[in-house]
Amino acid sequence: MTQSITIPTPDDWHLHLRDGAMLEGVIADSARHFARAIIMPNLVPPVVRGDQAASYRDRILKALPVGMTFEPLMTLYLTETTDPDDVEAATKSGLVKALKLYPAGATTNSDSGVTDFVKVQPVLERMAEIGLPLCVHGEVTTADVDIFDREAVFIETVLDPLRKRVPGLRVVMEHVTTKDGVDYVRANEKDLAATLTTHHLIINRNHILVGGIKPHYYCLPVAKRELHRLALREAATSGDARFFLGTDSAPHPTDLKENACGCAGCYTSINTMSLLAHVFEEEDKLDNLEKFSSQNGPAFYGLPVNETTMTLVKGDAPVTFPSEVKTGAGPVTVFDPGFDVFWKVEEN
Ligand code: DOR
Ligand code: ZN
Repeated sequence: MTQSITIPTPDDWHLHLRDGAMLEGVIADSARHFARAIIMPNLVPPVVRGDQAASYRDRILKALPVGMTFEPLMTLYLTETTDPDDVEAATKSGLVKALKLYPAGATTNSDSGVTDFVKVQPVLERMAEIGLPLCVHGEVTTADVDIFDREAVFIETVLDPLRKRVPGLRVVMEHVTTKDGVDYVRANEKDLAATLTTHHLIINRNHILVGGIKPHYYCLPVAKRELHRLALREAATSGDARFFLGTDSAPHPTDLKENACGCAGCYTSINTMSLLAHVFEEEDKLDNLEKFSSQNGPAFYGLPVNETTMTLVKGDAPVTFPSEVKTGAGPVTVFDPGFDVFWKVEEN
């Protein structure tokens, strides 16, 4: 029996597009299924000022294949020298939709991130004033904290004190990977939301490590134990307006992942919507897919829901995805969920 579901065209509230040849190679995969995306600023060098965000946006639009539409929602990388006036001007012009906080050293290209939070207090206060959200990579980076505990420790020692120091600051906890993160969001009614990735709804840490190390399942924050994955699935499929999709699709050339020091990141732009339909159906919550991928995000960011639609159709035969995407920066391995998927996005 064929089953289908039609939802407003989704948006991706956390996406890495990179630059140059990699950008050119991956952008169509996002533009095919998503109307808009929050674009991560962790380029080398990072996108820290409004003028840099404007030219990055131009490069993204230039890389977009003819005939495709896609709206990049730009972010700035918060550093200890970020100028509140530049942030305000870039926000008021409509260019910038969020600032991104990487604790220094937390992940790919995060060296310019924040170490001393006192130094960013003025910019955070300005953001609260103008209603600009802070997107947070929520992991502490101190060597004495176990990598599997870094999110929970961050919430307690960094995020909660930061939110108390800057009342009214709107925060998105990105790629939440723990029950602690879900519980923290649930306990806060105002000014707090979270994105969830597709891959964290599918893999736990055993998938990365049991039976041989799987570099293509390695991302940051690293997937945690099963009880956390189940909490994430419950949150994503609940319909709760505070949870929405941010794929964190993060392309790296395959050889840099299959490496003695492999990069963090899963590439999911191309198959996310099929995988999500599978997950939501498994949880018997298909009706909530549109809240998670199309409605809750725009509501948080004060943007309209997309007027166009996407139809997903469930067929009898498994859908096949390419195992890798060819780019001028090398092939990128596509996230393999490890099970058959029958939901396919109907191409217009
Ligand atoms: O796995 C990840 N990859 N997590 C991040 O936070 C950054 C991203 C990347 O840029 O590769
Ligand atoms: Zn990311």
